[in-house]
Amino acid sequence: MKSGDPDPHAPPLAGLSVDQFMRRHWQRAPLLIRQAIPDFEPPLDAAALIELASDDSVESRFVARRRGRWILEHGPFEADRLPALSGRDWTLLVQGADLHSDAARALLSRFRFVPDARLDDLMISLAADGGGVGPHQDSYDVFLLQAWGRRRWRIGRVAEPQLVPGLPLRVLANFEAEREWLLEPGDMLYLPPGWGHDGIAEGPCMTCSVGFRAPSRHEFLAAFLAEAADSPGGPDPRFGDPGRRPVDPVDAARIPDDLHRKLADWARRWRPTVAQVDEFIGRYLSEPKAGVWFDAPTALGLKPFIERIRRQGIALDRRTRMLWRGHKVYINGEVEHAPAGTRSLIRRLAERRHLGAADLQTVADDNELLPILHQWHKAGWLRLTPARKRP
Ligand code: SIN
Ligand code: CO
Repeated sequence: MKSGDPDPHAPPLAGLSVDQFMRRHWQRAPLLIRQAIPDFEPPLDAAALIELASDDSVESRFVARRRGRWILEHGPFEADRLPALSGRDWTLLVQGADLHSDAARALLSRFRFVPDARLDDLMISLAADGGGVGPHQDSYDVFLLQAWGRRRWRIGRVAEPQLVPGLPLRVLANFEAEREWLLEPGDMLYLPPGWGHDGIAEGPCMTCSVGFRAPSRHEFLAAFLAEAADSPGGPDPRFGDPGRRPVDPVDAARIPDDLHRKLADWARRWRPTVAQVDEFIGRYLSEPKAGVWFDAPTALGLKPFIERIRRQGIALDRRTRMLWRGHKVYINGEVEHAPAGTRSLIRRLAERRHLGAADLQTVADDNELLPILHQWHKAGWLRLTPARKRP
């Protein structure tokens, strides 16, 4: 970052405090922040973004308008398949840039005034003049940070959204702009969910979108019930009917009342335990993004691992999602009970995403935290901080 950015880790809200932002704007009202990040340096340049889009582990889309027709293609894209940036009316969108670039991850971290459980990813789009994805609504909050070049944003509320039929992407048919701004590098627009918006590149440009996640009731219940189906808990009696009276064959197809009553009773009385729900919530919210695979490093044995982390410290892999609540920590969809006496340390790891050598030197050899960290190291969820070169 250049010196124009007063604090490269601070929330990029210019003069506004995070309290004011959360009270007045979050989920409530759009906000344009001029020079949210002065002298902003994009986390990736155009060539690096195009290269990411050629990787099949990266989620990317190409949207173009040709002779009034919308075109949508999904990546990976070979660089020579993309039109020239000097052309017109196309956009390349790369989802989850924070999973692949430390600089993108660092930019996303500036938005940690919103809990990690609500933060989703950093999408970066590269557009030729006139490029955009059309007027649309998103179900989630978004910060649209202009990285380089200029983009004109028009926004407006949409009471009853209607989509243009037959298109490969969701474009609003009844979008009417209420406000309009031309964003320059470092400017940022915040939009609550549901606001219609249309961003059109004026000359080639790059935009970073900070996206959020918010489960819907159905999404959450579908995931929870799918898991509960494997282990509903409680006893498992089987229905029986000793003493059943014979049925008249003309009535044999009727569902018997006692069988119906028993099944209805099992269904209505089924209740997950508090612990089952608690654990599921933590594991669900800490699930890595779809498509993330951790490659296990050439893992060290427990003893050399302990020696090395005491000299070098550890850092979470940038793709690791780690959350905590009470005595439990959740990491990449799994739960751990933080051993007594190490809770503040494990929370520090979740909050700072790294622990220094000094933090780890205070942990006794027989502390149960060390084998847990070692497991996470073997899974590729955390790494040794690179050793400093001697001068
Ligand atoms: C874009 O970067 O072109 C689209 C971002 C958005 O509208 O959410
Ligand atoms: Co959008």
